[in-house]
Amino acid sequence: MTDLTYVGAIDQGTTGTRFMVFDHDGQVVSSAYETHEQIYPEPGWVEHDPVEIWENTKSVITTALAEGDVDAAQLEAIGVTNQRETTVLWDAASGTPVYNAIVWQDRRTTDRVETLEAEGLDEPIRETTGLQPDAYFAATKAEWLLDNADPIKLERSRPDDVRTRAERGEVLFGTIDSWLIYNLTGEHVTEVTNASRTMLYDIHDLEWDDDLLEEFSIPRAMLPEVRPSSDEATYGSTDPDGFLGTEVPVAGALGDQQAALFGQACFDAGSAKNTYGTGSFFLLNTGEEAVESEHGLLTTIGFQRSGDPVQYALEGSIFVTGAAIEWLEDVTLIDDPAETEALARSVDSTDGVYVVPAFTGLGAPHWDQRARGTIVGMTRGTRREHIVRATLEAIAYQTRDVAEAMEADSGIEISSLRVDGGAVKNNFLCQLQSDVIGTQIVRPEVDETTALGSAYAAGLAVGYWSDLEELRENWRVDREFDPEMEQRLADRRYERWSEAVACARGWARDEE
Ligand code: G3P
Repeated sequence: MTDLTYVGAIDQGTTGTRFMVFDHDGQVVSSAYETHEQIYPEPGWVEHDPVEIWENTKSVITTALAEGDVDAAQLEAIGVTNQRETTVLWDAASGTPVYNAIVWQDRRTTDRVETLEAEGLDEPIRETTGLQPDAYFAATKAEWLLDNADPIKLERSRPDDVRTRAERGEVLFGTIDSWLIYNLTGEHVTEVTNASRTMLYDIHDLEWDDDLLEEFSIPRAMLPEVRPSSDEATYGSTDPDGFLGTEVPVAGALGDQQAALFGQACFDAGSAKNTYGTGSFFLLNTGEEAVESEHGLLTTIGFQRSGDPVQYALEGSIFVTGAAIEWLEDVTLIDDPAETEALARSVDSTDGVYVVPAFTGLGAPHWDQRARGTIVGMTRGTRREHIVRATLEAIAYQTRDVAEAMEADSGIEISSLRVDGGAVKNNFLCQLQSDVIGTQIVRPEVDETTALGSAYAAGLAVGYWSDLEELRENWRVDREFDPEMEQRLADRRYERWSEAVACARGWARDEE
């Protein structure tokens, strides 16, 4: 063990939890990862066990510290980043969740969202929260939990229903950041970027919105306090008698997509990144201006440092990209995601096949909760190579859908796009992405930008890093990909993609 100090980052994602230790240069010192169970109780429902997530969090922290020969006392701060929108309700006294977490991908509240449209609430919700009403966000998930969580799971001596207890502040609401911080420090807080994904938060006045709380019958007493993403006051410290055995301040938190924006050093208006994880999330920093989208994007909070105004972003949320590769594995078309590059390269084209992986509906810019996965254009000659290639192409085409909306909304031509996430190790995908959108794609050296972003937020708050300039210097290019495909061919294929999307739309019916 040395006397060097570090910053740790918990990256709690949809499929697993990672802990990473970073040094002052933003380089990875050690890392550990564990997956958790995906629970599908009914078609379209997706749940996680919050207790399993917390247990895994402790376990990856312990493992990464041991493997990096880092003592917890060498951590100057911990940052948290998380899958966003996923909703947890827990009992304040015991800390026990009242139900599984409802995951961002879950579609059980589709009908409820359609009633909002029918009530003419779409526009007011968009204006206040920057969001397109959808089952994706936390509001209808929390409402469902308040209506349906079983009071038996709470203390038997208190027979009141969950909502009544929530009104007394005995049941708490949180997204995954809140859940983890509560377990780490005992504080019930969230931060602005996560709050901006609840569909309950006014992103202009920076407060929970009373009208929306009333619409969804959400008691204010159950809501966490909203804090900056990088908070000099900190969200509290770990318990010296707890699993870490020492007091480490938890000083930064960001929703995972905003964390990637921060980790990619997209600090200025006009800079953009796309992260390829379970889904893909394309964010463009718009500075202090909350740009309203007219092309199906979300207006969201990008980040906030203590004492500074919030920075906004435009976001294109694509629900299924990396998850489509997992699906290829599930249906045994591939044994390992690493195979996709060679399989895709082994054919010249998809032979007219298009895969639209709308497994959980379509997000930006289409917002169709009832769209479902579709494969079109197959012939007797279609081989798995074509389907694998078409699945990778779908990732690139969906990104073009949001890139076009982004340019139309912002008036900014995106001449270079920073990319990160698991799938960008795939050079074929990076080149394809460059060809499909006709833009330079830039892959950074540290591709774990999500964890890095939350480490930066925490480290800035405690003075481990002094300013954004220092972080900018840490950002280095690994490889750039420039468009190679003839633009006319790229456009023609993209047009066919749009026709394939039309086939996927509106498919799901209630009786299914
Ligand atoms: O909005 C959902 C997003 O935060 C999930 O990200 O990386 O866990 O797929 P990821």
